[in-house]
Amino acid sequence: MSKLKRVGVLTGGGDCPGLNAVIRAVVKTSLGDYAAEVVGILDGFEGLVFKKVMPLSWENVRGILTKGGTILGSSTRANPFAMTVERNGKKFTEDKSADACRNFEELGLDALVVIGGDGTLTIAKELRDKCGLKVVGVPKTIDNDLSATDRTFGFETAVITATEAIDKLHSTAESHHRVMFVELMGREAGWIALYSGLAGGADVILIPEIPYHTPRLVEKIERREKYGMKFSIVVVAEGARPVGGKMSVIEKPDQPWALPRLGGAAQRVADEVEKLTKKETRVTVLGHLQRGGSPTAFDRNLATRLGVEAVNLIARGEFGRMVCLSGREIKSVPLEDAVGRQKLVDPHGEMVRAAAATGIEFCAAPEK
Ligand code: F6P
Repeated sequence: MSKLKRVGVLTGGGDCPGLNAVIRAVVKTSLGDYAAEVVGILDGFEGLVFKKVMPLSWENVRGILTKGGTILGSSTRANPFAMTVERNGKKFTEDKSADACRNFEELGLDALVVIGGDGTLTIAKELRDKCGLKVVGVPKTIDNDLSATDRTFGFETAVITATEAIDKLHSTAESHHRVMFVELMGREAGWIALYSGLAGGADVILIPEIPYHTPRLVEKIERREKYGMKFSIVVVAEGARPVGGKMSVIEKPDQPWALPRLGGAAQRVADEVEKLTKKETRVTVLGHLQRGGSPTAFDRNLATRLGVEAVNLIARGEFGRMVCLSGREIKSVPLEDAVGRQKLVDPHGEMVRAAAATGIEFCAAPEK
């Protein structure tokens, strides 16, 4: 008989399809297999610092498997070690990690399931290091850029949304003989751009891992024109940058630990292409549409399996770990092996080579 009594669960960082499936799995496994209560912590770590919580029962998770987003709310700006607090109309940064630790105790939690990407899981590890907080991580992100898991849920859903967008851009690009640029999310990783660009039959894919050489892009568009294809589809990862250039950043957050907001990569390259080719260009930024919608069957299943295993780990007393997909199996790794290690596209990998073999250009700088 397990001694598990009370499990906490929170979702941190940017949302993604499949979060609710994890929450549902955590609640059902805790209540059903271990007769343990579940406490939902609201708005990521903000809820742990300010004790914003809700009890989670069977009723709360009924019907949420198919829903995007998170019923618990999330926050990309809540770091207990550097919380922004307002007093007398002024903003201050304060270390509230002791409050997070105390609230964990006061809530009587045996352990906390932290569902998040690299930033959120790093905070979980730091809280573990600070006060021995018993945490188990569940990896999530549409970016698929965590190296300790073969896949993150949410990624496939995002890729399908992006592929549908590329499919739709094809007909209008062709009708108007235009070069259509579509900017996709992914931060410093080009996974969404690569997978959807390949699936959508893009002509060019620009990813952060392969800085692009603009003359090569122009050459590709002009070559297509010469052979009678008067339009082109260029997929641009938001982190794409020209050879020797930087990523396109639209906002640097006040908090030094927070990541900059990327944006404008597609517009930047489209403007240059229009100038050099005299062809009409248009830019579509798919944005947060990629984070929304109902998760695919794969993402629902992966999220569910990870949520179940997170509770099983807690019941076995295996804390400070992150559940992961390894091949086809659900396993776990120590948190220290899971955070701070980005998984990026291999510029010489099989996916890139398959795309190149089917005529997709990545526009790398010519070898000297
Ligand atoms: O990490 C997920 C992600 O969607 C990135 O692909 C994107 O750059 C970022 O989050 C956007 O964050 P926000 O919702 O804070 O604008």
